[in-house]
Amino acid sequence: MNDLSVLPTSFTWGVATSAYQIEGAVSEDGRSPSIWDTFSHTPGKVAGGDTGDVACDHYHRWPEDLGIMKELGVDAYRFSIAWPRIMPDGAGPVNQAGLAYYDRLVDALLGAGITPFPTLYHWDLPQALQDRGGWASRETASRFADYAAAVSGLLGDRVKDWGTLNEPRCAAWIGNLEGRHAPGLADIDVAVPVSYHLLLAHGLAAQALRAAVPDARIGIINVMHTCEPATDRSEDIEATTRYDGHVNRWWLDPIHGRGFPADMREIYRVALPEQPGDAETIATPLDWEGVNYYSPTIISDDPGGGVPYARETPPDGVPQTMLRWEIRAAGLEQVLVRVATEYGARSLYVTENGSAWADHITPDGQVHDQGRVRYLEEHLAACGRAVARGVPLAGYFAWSLLDNFEWDYGYDARFGLVYVDYESQRRTVKDSGRRYADIITSHRQRPAVTAPDGDLG
Ligand code: IFM
Repeated sequence: MNDLSVLPTSFTWGVATSAYQIEGAVSEDGRSPSIWDTFSHTPGKVAGGDTGDVACDHYHRWPEDLGIMKELGVDAYRFSIAWPRIMPDGAGPVNQAGLAYYDRLVDALLGAGITPFPTLYHWDLPQALQDRGGWASRETASRFADYAAAVSGLLGDRVKDWGTLNEPRCAAWIGNLEGRHAPGLADIDVAVPVSYHLLLAHGLAAQALRAAVPDARIGIINVMHTCEPATDRSEDIEATTRYDGHVNRWWLDPIHGRGFPADMREIYRVALPEQPGDAETIATPLDWEGVNYYSPTIISDDPGGGVPYARETPPDGVPQTMLRWEIRAAGLEQVLVRVATEYGARSLYVTENGSAWADHITPDGQVHDQGRVRYLEEHLAACGRAVARGVPLAGYFAWSLLDNFEWDYGYDARFGLVYVDYESQRRTVKDSGRRYADIITSHRQRPAVTAPDGDLG
């Protein structure tokens, strides 16, 4: 692995999770069902019929998981807050028991010297709001701002780093256009308003957070892919521009004050529910931006397919994970440089990065996940190269602390630095977890450096 001493001394080393993927305890302390409870309980939607009912039982076992974070030596924990625990009806009175859970978690994290880094929305919309129109309704954006105000009102004296949405692109497109995620719809006339209201909700929540916590550091988390044409045919090149518009520009342009991309509006052919002032709200200034990166995409024209008439070509003959996601660390460097140069981001975090493998415990009681160790090392080296080129990268969060409920793939796709035996709920730190701990320790022991002044070329 390349030398990581280029990373600033203040670099934040973290791990990430999300509520529905790890908490379990779906009916405890007043939590109401989310769209993911409904979806995962619908036969045929999730591999193996898996649900998040128990997941990693983190709701009860978080003290043990906090102990593991201490053992790994991380600086920060990125988790998500479950809206259905805080406002079970999606609106109205706050459920104090639900809020108390996060209150305890935050206090314990701070007591352990670990910075809490919550995200307000990681796809678990209260089902009650879905029943009233979900993200296709403008009302939901306002309710999200209320929820943001309520949570930050209680935790904001101690929590300063706030993420609004995780990967709104997946919530909108995979959930409402492809139907593979909750709420399981495949309708462009719904998906486009959903995408709009998600970004509006982000802006409204950022404003609510700022009002409640004036010294908050607020950001949004987008997942980014590099996109390249499968061939040099002009059809594939044009399809790649459409695909990039669909997965990257549609999300990045509006939050940077550029509005929604004109080429994609023409492709979607669905009127946006725009109202005066929305564009400014969506572009509310942020303190940081989160980039989730997993793999590059290779794109082919797909005139007979659905919007955006472009499809990913499965990787062939290249390193890939068990989900057939190509492994290419240079893509991480590329997306970081892109957000810094094309969009002028002033502070970035890699808020997720990791790989899925079919891990197992070997007779020595360990998990020798060499594929994940290599992936981690290569992607951290890519972070180092990005920083050397001048990217203002403030930290890295490994996805994920624990093996967990990987949405429509269920529990077989393991992303954790820590193995979870779902029968016994026993945790085993994998080789990758130990490697991450070593990297963190040796980075801390290096002489102090400030971020280099690269040329961002
Ligand atoms: O598990 C997910 C996470 O919830 C969102 N980003 C991608 C991860 C891996 O698929």
